[in-house]
Amino acid sequence: MSASGLTLPGLASGDLPAAAELRGRVGGSRNPNPADAAAYAEIMSTLAFGKGFTDHMVHSRWTPSSGWGPLTLEPFGPIELSPAASVLHYGQEIFEGLKAYRWSDGSIRAFRPGFNAARLANSARRLALPELPAEDFVASIAGLIEADERWVPTADGATLYLRPFAFSSEPFLGVRAGHQVDYYLIGSPVGPYFAHGFEPVDIWVSSTYHRAGAGGMGDAKTGGNYAASLRPQAEASDRGFEQVLFLDASTNTYVDELGGMNLVVVDADGTVRTPNLTGTILEGGTRDSLLTLLADSGREVRQEPIALADLLADIRSGSVAEVFACGTAAVVTPVGRLAGEDFDVTVADGRPGPVTTNLHAHLTDIQFGRREDAHGWMYRLL
Ligand SMILES: Cc1ncc(COP(=O)(O)O)c(C=O)c1O
Repeated sequence: MSASGLTLPGLASGDLPAAAELRGRVGGSRNPNPADAAAYAEIMSTLAFGKGFTDHMVHSRWTPSSGWGPLTLEPFGPIELSPAASVLHYGQEIFEGLKAYRWSDGSIRAFRPGFNAARLANSARRLALPELPAEDFVASIAGLIEADERWVPTADGATLYLRPFAFSSEPFLGVRAGHQVDYYLIGSPVGPYFAHGFEPVDIWVSSTYHRAGAGGMGDAKTGGNYAASLRPQAEASDRGFEQVLFLDASTNTYVDELGGMNLVVVDADGTVRTPNLTGTILEGGTRDSLLTLLADSGREVRQEPIALADLLADIRSGSVAEVFACGTAAVVTPVGRLAGEDFDVTVADGRPGPVTTNLHAHLTDIQFGRREDAHGWMYRLL
């Protein structure tokens, strides 16, 4: 466990074999019909999240008798799936999300891919799916990036979002772990999350819905958790809120996390607190990295239960100075307001605080090669 409490360290970037070596594990061939100049320009000029995709994907299939088959580069496109594929009925699916960053020297790097490999393996164990070896996970990324290099944006703050996922494709309606599993990696070029600056979000705290319960799948990255968050998210959106904060399902007392981000609180005395990993929270690589940077700078960092009632009282009294959410997509999102059935509080003056703002700059500077990567987080892909 690291100083910040990481339980999924995975392989450090420096301990992974070089990308040039791992790429050799990916067979297959280039897409004979890549996007033409107009289609490419359309996607690269809009960089809308998750809407445009690269020319390729990487695929591997697992069966109980053969294990994982070869990693194969294929044209990006529809996949053939039986209507009886068990993922469509029982949701046996896991995924990851990470980014490839283009540095000013033209090189392309991933941020802590060993962490995502370890988290995918953790999710696989919970969902009774086979674990993809970490080196194969990173190999799939290295192989995709070599083939899709032109899709890693050069625009300031833009990245290639990488989406690895695995699911049971076995055509079988019995309720048991699938005997045929497909792993895919796809990529989507995305713009900087804060196209219009670093805007605080308003958050609705749900006391009626929960995303995960004790013994459930909260610490796995699986589609079902996101399905559970869609209705509360839509209701919050109808009320004019951008995100939902979920409470612990057992007591409805403690803050867990948002639908797709972890939550961090900065006290006026400089202490940083975030909910401890109880099993219902997804352990974020961003969370861990930010806690590490904060500890590096000499701050007290605590992972502990945070009762909603205390948090609201502390925001009102001013003893909590900043609240932010964090995750791969947005890196750091300032929280301007927290509201629920019987409360509505503004954090500080509703503007991003200095700790939040500096952390966002610090982490993105490391990711884009503008600041020293003291922890060796970046992994060179090309
Ligand atoms: C539910 C949830 N919590 C937290 C996170 C943040 O994780 P990370 O920082 O690794 O992106 C994510 C995003 O992956 C998420 O989906």
